[in-house]
Amino acid sequence: MITASFLTLPQLELPSARGSITVTAPSNIALVKYWGKSQGQIPKNASISFTLSNCLTKTTLSYTPFSEQSKESQGIGRALDHSNFEVFVEGSAKPEFAPKIATFFNRIEAHMPWIRSFQWRIDTENTFPHGSGIASSASGFAALAGALMELENSWSLHPLTPELRAQKTSFLARLGSGSASRSVLGPLMYWGAHPALPASSDLYACVLEHEVHAVFKNYKDTILLVDQGEKEVSSTLGHNLMHDHPFAHQRFEQAQANLKKLLTVLANGDTQEFCALVESEALSLHAMMMTSNPSYLLMKPNTLAIIEKIRLFRRTQNVPVCFTLDAGANVHLLYPADFTPQLMPWIKNDLSQHCQGGQFIEDQVGQGVKKV
Ligand code: PMV
Repeated sequence: MITASFLTLPQLELPSARGSITVTAPSNIALVKYWGKSQGQIPKNASISFTLSNCLTKTTLSYTPFSEQSKESQGIGRALDHSNFEVFVEGSAKPEFAPKIATFFNRIEAHMPWIRSFQWRIDTENTFPHGSGIASSASGFAALAGALMELENSWSLHPLTPELRAQKTSFLARLGSGSASRSVLGPLMYWGAHPALPASSDLYACVLEHEVHAVFKNYKDTILLVDQGEKEVSSTLGHNLMHDHPFAHQRFEQAQANLKKLLTVLANGDTQEFCALVESEALSLHAMMMTSNPSYLLMKPNTLAIIEKIRLFRRTQNVPVCFTLDAGANVHLLYPADFTPQLMPWIKNDLSQHCQGGQFIEDQVGQGVKKV
């Protein structure tokens, strides 16, 4: 039984005319990874991420109230489906996204029953190149959850406080994609119950309020686009393969321990230890994929070439630059912003040779969902 104060259904005054709302939400990059979940989008271990600022999804959510007549023919009790909404990406209809959105709408209906009272149109666009291999589900579901929450609060007779509103947004985003729960605020968000974080919850992410050393406050993430194709194995499938995984238990314990260590590192500013921990997390995530049944590999030869160059550069130049990986072949290069002038020539002249079309995206830590 889920209990959280923000889940009490609010008293609303629903509009009788059509309208719309636009929000943006960023992607995020996990430092300690979430990989493996229980029923109901409950993570098997806690995770923590930098919220980004340039890799954004912008979503306009338009609503048309059903007339009294059509309300009757809506068939309350049936599952919400593509007849309740339309999805457009950069202006083009995308019916192939309907099943994921329908699953999301059905999961959130108990917490937002009013979604059934409208016909929806979702117009969405990403600032990062289409098919760049960057997960759009985190920013996409954070934006959709943020837009729905903005509407609910504007119609509520007793609006939630900003803190509770962020919790409910994160709770809803989680039901679309687990990592989306961490895109709601910034610059660092954690999700999943952990004994070292008394406010932590499996249901929603929180902003890291612990002491964070100045060096981690302006981190950059340069995303090296090694492979811009569709992922060969989806995250949904990957999470499922953790159920019978021989190393699952050790992995979940390792992640919990790494998160505790990372909290100390974030407070004391030890960038060397930060690099060691973050890289080990990335490789552990991919080790889980390589040892799943069936096994699979998402890294490409260029991913490994870049990793080797990063480690060599760090050793020889004594610069606190490290890598992390998502569930894909692209490499996220993490470093304090002050080192940008020293790193950029190397990124442009050397690392970009390993990127598809020489492409990379410059991003940095950011603040989460914004109303436009
Ligand atoms: O949010 P999902 O279900 O797409 O899972 C993605 C998990 C990783 O991105 C691989 C790691 C993480 O914690 O973000």
